[in-house]
Amino acid sequence: MRLTHKLGKLGSGQAFASAQRHLRRTLLDWRRGMRLDPESLIKAIDAEQFESIRQRYLTNSPNEAWLKYLDLETWMPANLRRVRDLGLDSGPPRRILDIGCGAGYFLFIAKCLGHEGVGLDIDEAPIFEELVRLQGIRRVIWRVQPFVPLVKPGGKFDLITAFMICFNGHKSPGLWGTREWQFFLDDLETQLTPTGRICLGFNREEDGNLYSQELGEFLEDRGATIFSNYVILPAGQARRSLAKRATP
Ligand SMILES: C[S@@+](CC[C@H](N)C(=O)[O-])C[C@H]1O[C@@H](n2cnc3c(N)ncnc32)[C@H](O)[C@@H]1O
Repeated sequence: MRLTHKLGKLGSGQAFASAQRHLRRTLLDWRRGMRLDPESLIKAIDAEQFESIRQRYLTNSPNEAWLKYLDLETWMPANLRRVRDLGLDSGPPRRILDIGCGAGYFLFIAKCLGHEGVGLDIDEAPIFEELVRLQGIRRVIWRVQPFVPLVKPGGKFDLITAFMICFNGHKSPGLWGTREWQFFLDDLETQLTPTGRICLGFNREEDGNLYSQELGEFLEDRGATIFSNYVILPAGQARRSLAKRATP
């Protein structure tokens, strides 16, 4: 293909369709046994389209903080680790909801492995919209707010994740306490399968801690286990049967 034609395609609907074809071909190869490593995952993203996004934001980004998400060499291995830590690199296909999905790399890897994912995010970073679209990720626009039930994208989820959480009033005077978390988690459980799990990845607050001692105890009372840097919570049904077994 001539370069002028290639450049003309960039940013057009034609380019998007070509990126989707590239992705479909790679997913097919994957199911035929491609290696699961960061390099192969990066290759599965249309390089021409990614470069076009990268150039545009590097030269004219409304927010410097977003630029770090263009570093695939950092984010692909980091998200592959998350996928492996959660056991998504083996077992049956699962339905995943990722809250605050950002650039969508976690759901992209999950999709390459045959899982079905939905991202949820606010619509404040156009770069996320473009990256999620490039990777063929379904995304629901929604702002998580205290004491407001979460949007229901449809069906139940085997896994609900939230990494590097910001929706909890992170580093603000409105940082969530146990009441906000109780409402949020009770509501979230209505979207979980009976054996589903919630995985929370907290950001460090001003005091250097991921969460207060009170919140830690609250999460523990709900059956949380700390694994790697994540707090893993079982669905309500599993939690209640655990509690019943523990009662003398
Ligand atoms: C630090 S980024 C983490 C992105 C991604 N989870 C990751 O680990 O790469 C925080 C994400 O939360 C989203 N976010 C912030 N406040 C939110 C809110 N109230 N409701 C939903 N998403 C929110 C941001 O748009 C962003 O995608």
